[in-house]
Amino acid sequence: MKQKLTRLLLSGVIAVAGLAFLNSPTLAAGGASSAVPAKKAVETAAEVKKTGAEAKGKVSGNEAAMALAKKSGCLGCHTVETKLVGPSWKDIAARYKGDSKAKATLIEKVKKGGKGNWTKVTGGVPMPPNSPKVPDADIEKLVDYVLSMAK
Ligand code: HEC
Repeated sequence: MKQKLTRLLLSGVIAVAGLAFLNSPTLAAGGASSAVPAKKAVETAAEVKKTGAEAKGKVSGNEAAMALAKKSGCLGCHTVETKLVGPSWKDIAARYKGDSKAKATLIEKVKKGGKGNWTKVTGGVPMPPNSPKVPDADIEKLVDYVLSMAK
């Protein structure tokens, strides 16, 4: 009985020591070289989590808008997050954030096409006209959707 208790106590001590070791700054830092990627990984994980949560919050609206974007042919050149042929929609939203004329301007741009506004990002590739292939009402919805991505 006494022996059992000692063993139990001992394993408890080992477990605590193990935890302390895992939490120790030396290990957490992992040496100067691996400290940065480790931090990056954590940040990336946090970002993925955030994106997931964001997506969850407005799944229905996003899904409808993304389906419309796909149907309208936008996704051949745009993605939400990263530059494809055209700039990412989040970058567009960020640029026009707070600009009350943006909606009208961008509706015209998407209808008639445009170039020269994103040369640094695209290398100067133009956006061809999307009208009349895409109905005006859909273009308005799509521009609203793009602009809604501004934080
Ligand atoms: C063939 C490729 C292509 C397609 C299809 C396309 N775009 Fe673009 N889009 C671009 C490029 C390239 C630019 C950057 C043009 C520039 O530099 O001014 C752009 C720019 C934009 C801009 C920003 C315009 C500005 O002046 O800041 C918006 C908004 C946009 N696109 C929305 C859409 C929507 C909505 C659709 C679908 C109806 C669509 N695009 C289809 C290539 C495309």
